[in-house]
Amino acid sequence: MRPIDEQVVLVTGTTGGLGRALAERLAALGATVVMHGRHGGRLERACEQIRAAVPGAVLHPAVADLSCLAEVNGLADRVLAERPALHALVNNAGVGFGSDSSRRETSTDGIELRLAVNHVAGALLIRRLLPLLQASAPSRIVQVASLGQAPIDLADPQLERGYDGWQAYAQSKLAQVMLTRDLAGELDPETVTINALHPATFMDTGMVCEGGIAPQSSVGEGLEATLRLLADPGLDGVSGRFFDGTREARPHHTADDPAARARVRELTDDLLRRAA
Ligand SMILES: NC(=O)c1ccc[n+]([C@@H]2O[C@H](COP(=O)([O-])OP(=O)(O)OC[C@H]3O[C@@H](n4cnc5c(N)ncnc54)[C@H](OP(=O)(O)O)[C@@H]3O)[C@@H](O)[C@H]2O)c1
Repeated sequence: MRPIDEQVVLVTGTTGGLGRALAERLAALGATVVMHGRHGGRLERACEQIRAAVPGAVLHPAVADLSCLAEVNGLADRVLAERPALHALVNNAGVGFGSDSSRRETSTDGIELRLAVNHVAGALLIRRLLPLLQASAPSRIVQVASLGQAPIDLADPQLERGYDGWQAYAQSKLAQVMLTRDLAGELDPETVTINALHPATFMDTGMVCEGGIAPQSSVGEGLEATLRLLADPGLDGVSGRFFDGTREARPHHTADDPAARARVRELTDDLLRRAA
């Protein structure tokens, strides 16, 4: 791997929680950080705080609401236009189970919100930024997923019947892991690796508080696990894996089923056509 202080890293969802902490640590290690957020004011505040804590931090704020595929495309366009190189993409931004998990929400494109933000937006970013990641090799993609995983029922993939936010969250997180497995099979691991992880269980972050859950771990734990996937030279060439914190783990068994992965991929491609 390239030394971290020579890397340009795009982290999504840097206005709070894990993404905010990761952006600060990467800046402290000397990386150039493209800090994504959906809200201009919140993102500017996060950048200011990091600049105050890390003098000389090299930060490039980029605003996009990931619940709108046109904005996801806009974020990719901007990165491609402004950054001559990109060595890592961290798909971290996410929507939790919500304060009322029975309330079904949809994205601007009409896609169930958790699937849209947690999986489809990240898939589009990967698709659009892969050529730049390949040209900047060796590069790494990190999918911040979860141990909370459930297979997508293709008869009702967007939970139009009997909605449950936990189920929607878990489906979106398994979809991330399935995409990770799929892409790893296609990419040359000497060029671009892709791995997924469960950073830590119920960290003290926005989505956990919003869900009314008592935190069981700190952002610091998730930060170390996520940073490791970006910065550990021992993971050079390691791709398609799922980690529970820093330990390799088995994801839901459906992630090992190529036919199930193909079906989720077809669904993802279908939803992405809305962004074309
Ligand atoms: N917390 C845990 O224990 C835990 C466990 C397993 C996995 N994870 C995963 O870790 C990742 C980070 O979560 P977190 O715990 O740090 O949660 P968080 O504090 O709620 O942070 C979520 C981030 O995603 C952003 N985001 C949400 N919706 C967005 C949208 N439509 N467009 C753009 N950005 C959006 C948020 O932006 P705003 O500031 O604008 O809301 C925020 O920056 C997620 O993928 C989550 O699923 C967390």
